Amino acid sequence: MNVLVTGGAGYIGSHTCVELLNKGHGVVVIDNLVNSSAKAIERVEQITGKHVDFYENDVRDRAALDRIFEKHDIGAAIHFAGLKAVGESVQMPLEYYDNNLFSTVRLCEAMRDHGVKNIIFSSSATVYSGTNQMPLRETDVTGMCTNPYGWTKYMSEQILRDSAKAIEDWSVVLLRYFNPIGAHSSGLIGEDPRGIPNNLMPFISQVAIGRRDHLNIFGNDYDTPDGTCIRDYIHVTDLARGHVAAIDYMVEHRGESVFNLGTGIGYSVLDMVKAFERVNGIKIPYEFAPRRAGDLPKLYSNPDKSAELLGWKAEYDLDDMCRDTWAWQSKNPMGYGE
Ligand code: NAD
Ligand code: WQD
Repeated sequence: MNVLVTGGAGYIGSHTCVELLNKGHGVVVIDNLVNSSAKAIERVEQITGKHVDFYENDVRDRAALDRIFEKHDIGAAIHFAGLKAVGESVQMPLEYYDNNLFSTVRLCEAMRDHGVKNIIFSSSATVYSGTNQMPLRETDVTGMCTNPYGWTKYMSEQILRDSAKAIEDWSVVLLRYFNPIGAHSSGLIGEDPRGIPNNLMPFISQVAIGRRDHLNIFGNDYDTPDGTCIRDYIHVTDLARGHVAAIDYMVEHRGESVFNLGTGIGYSVLDMVKAFERVNGIKIPYEFAPRRAGDLPKLYSNPDKSAELLGWKAEYDLDDMCRDTWAWQSKNPMGYGE
């Protein structure tokens, strides 16, 4: 099947392109490169030995979408394109609502008008309300988001859910990612944040390569065994394979479905630092700093529904995640910028 991958030059999108191509799917990418590099597409082609049709366009550009749907026989879309920095979304809410919501609406309209009936959406564990017990199940309460980014995911889920009800024969799969880290085992593609990394693992790996002198650990007085926050980190290749499994599932199912993509295992910030040090033999200097606003002490998934219905389970462990993060960072000290 030909799959339109929006945001396919980005971190998760590029890894998903590799897994789709490896499974024999055709891949068409639309990405405006607002947070990525066209080099990622070249590297995807290098890893797989296969061609990617790449369009440098904004997903909100309806005419560009029309051209793509007219030229390629698309069977499904995977919608990764979006802005994702939580803190930035608080500073620039209108830009986030514009980019993340209008890209979803324009894409759905174009799909409807061109008779494309299958869409997978990159949602996030951030849509779950902070009142739930761990581990999180797909039926748990959503909403009460703490920032505009989270609301764009919540609202996009609703837009897609309503579209699945209204448009005949549509299939919508909402995938709620936990904390993707790591990189392709080749070290050729990986996460390349612009500016100071917001997320833990890119920060650790930039300390390891010498771009930052130490890690600030946000809070060591949480009600967790070592006082630092617990998250469900998942290897990006496992996450990418979850999308391939969802494509297979969606061919057989209509309407709306929602799945967690996580491992079900929680690790603390200190666990992550120690694992990175042990696996890669590199010391990560750190200091304890005040809590970061909005952080929950514990967040991890129950991935049973994905195992049962998608036949998908995370296979890589924490050591693999740390090793592959470093393979990417050490081969590409400045990311794609070099
Ligand atoms: P990323 O920034 O690396 O990838 C997003 C891609 O979308 C980038 O290549 C960017 O250039 C592109 N893009 C953004 N707006 C666009 C637009 N209007 N038109 C065309 N292209 C556009 O981020 P990622 O980590 O790969 O995340 C992919 C998706 O998964 C995002 O929707 C994100 O919100 C979601 N998600 C990410 C995480 C995470 O921790 N990385 C967790 C949960 C959900
Ligand atoms: C993990 C832990 C931090 C950086 C975010 C988004 C979420 C989703 C995934 C998109 C926390 C601590 C971090 C640092 C630290 N993205 N930390 N020092 O916050 O679980 O989730 O990314 O949907 O929506 O909120 O991930 O990697 O930022 O933080 O101590 O320099 O590491 O406090 O406990 P988070 P993260």
